[in-house]
Amino acid sequence: MQHAYRSALVTGASSGIGTAFARALARRGTDLVLVARNTDRLEELADDLRATAKVGVEVVAADLADRERLAALEERLADPARQVELLVNNAGLGTQGRFAELPLDGEQAQLDVNVTALVRLTRAALPGMIDRRHGGVLNVSSMAGENAAPGTATYAATKAFVTRFTEGVHAEVAGQNVHVTAVLPGLTRTDFHRRAGMRRDGLPGFVWTTPEEVATAGLDAVAAGRAICVPGLANKASLPLNRLLPRALVRSAMGRILGD
Ligand SMILES: NC(=O)c1ccc[n+]([C@@H]2O[C@H](COP(=O)([O-])OP(=O)(O)OC[C@H]3O[C@@H](n4cnc5c(N)ncnc54)[C@H](OP(=O)(O)O)[C@@H]3O)[C@@H](O)[C@H]2O)c1
Repeated sequence: MQHAYRSALVTGASSGIGTAFARALARRGTDLVLVARNTDRLEELADDLRATAKVGVEVVAADLADRERLAALEERLADPARQVELLVNNAGLGTQGRFAELPLDGEQAQLDVNVTALVRLTRAALPGMIDRRHGGVLNVSSMAGENAAPGTATYAATKAFVTRFTEGVHAEVAGQNVHVTAVLPGLTRTDFHRRAGMRRDGLPGFVWTTPEEVATAGLDAVAAGRAICVPGLANKASLPLNRLLPRALVRSAMGRILGD
C-alpha cells in the first residue's frame, strides 16, 4: 500500500524491526531520520539507503534513556522548519528473569525507553501534525502485552501500556487526518531475544514472523488509520483465544513457555 508520508523518524533503526522500517520507508520514497545509540550501524544503513533508494537520511545518535538526549530529539520533532510526518517509536528492550531477582537498572531502562521515551516523543510530534492535519505515529508494542508473562513481567507491562496508550490517543485524534497506531508483533527473528537473555530457540517455526512482515504490516496499518495491527497468522489466531481462556490458565501456560 502506498502512503503519503514524505518524512519519517524511526527510533531503534540500527537493528531488527527498526532497520526493516527504515528500508521499507526508503523504498516508498520517504526521507528518514534514523535514531539509536550504535551510530556505526546507522551510518552504514544511511549510506546504503541514500545510494539505493535516493532518499535523504539524517543520523541522530541518542540513548533514549538519557533525558538530555531525549529532550534534543523532542525539539527536533517539534521543529516546524524540519517537519517529520511519521514518527515510528520502535526502540525497545526486554529482560528475562524473576522480577524480585533482576537488577533494578535493567527494569528502569525498559520503563525509560519502552514507555517514557515513546510518550515524550509522541507528545512532541503530535501538536504539529494536528495543526497541519497530516501525520502518523506508529508505536511498536508487542503481543507480550496481551499475556501474563512470568519471566518478562516488566517488559510485558511496558507493552500493555504502549497498546492502551496508543488506543487512547488514536481515539482522541480521530477525524483530524492524524493516525496513531500500535503494531503488536509476536516472536520476530531479530537480535532482541539474545540481547534480552530470553531463550526462545525451542519454539516452532510457524510462530515466528520476519522484521520485514512486521514493518510492512505496521506501515500499511498506520496509512489506513487503524488503531491496532497484529502481524502474522499465528498471532492473529492466538489473540481471541487468549482473551477467552481463564487468566489463571494463561498465566500457568505462559509460565511454562516463557519462564526461566
Ligand atoms: N523481536 C521480537 O520478537 C519482538 C516482538 C514484539 C515486539 N518487539 C519490539 O520491537 C521493537 C524492536 O525490537 P527488535 O526485535 O528489532 O530488537 P533489536 O534487534 O534488539 O533492536 C532494538 C533497537 O532498539 C534500540 N535501542 C535499545 N535501547 C535503546 C536506547 N537506550 N536508546 C536508543 N535506542 C535503543 C537498539 O539500538 P541501539 O542498541 O543501537 O541503541 C535497536 O536498534 C522493540 O520495541 C521490541 O520490544 C520485538
